Amino acid sequence: MVDRRTLLTRIVAGFSLIGLAGFSVPFIRSWVPAFRNETILDVDVGEMVAGDIKVVRWLGRNVMVVRRDRTQVARLIVSDALNDPDSLLSHQPDYAANTFRSRKPEHLLVYANCTHLGCEVDFTAGTRLAGFRCPCHRSEYDIAGRVEKGAAAKLNLEVPEYEYVGRTMIRLRKG
Ligand code: FES
Repeated sequence: MVDRRTLLTRIVAGFSLIGLAGFSVPFIRSWVPAFRNETILDVDVGEMVAGDIKVVRWLGRNVMVVRRDRTQVARLIVSDALNDPDSLLSHQPDYAANTFRSRKPEHLLVYANCTHLGCEVDFTAGTRLAGFRCPCHRSEYDIAGRVEKGAAAKLNLEVPEYEYVGRTMIRLRKG
């Protein structure tokens, strides 16, 4: 038979557990949506005009969104000066394994990190390839993020996972 003291201890322990559960469940649930939201970022590209660049922070890295015009896109066909013109060695989702390295020719999305040692590249029309330049060892990339021959970097800029969720809305999504 359970004595009175043990019974009281069990009752108090039971109430404590119920109280703890009542406090913990909302706390844990509050973290789940936050975690889910961090893996998705919507970028509005509706107001971007040719030559514009937008930099967004996502999953601890900067992603560059570039709006290209028809002339810039047409120039991408020329690939003599590039190390990996068809992106056979480089990292991008399947839908970006093309000359434009993108879902739509007018928008390029790349991580800003140089593929040599990870410095952040600058977007500048002043490079020989009219695209990106790394300030650390001067690797240059074209406006599709394809690296020049002979550069310290050997791979093209990495393309993140993304999709269009509206005519002018791009969703970055962790793959
Ligand atoms: S880190 Fe970019 S060229 Fe070395």
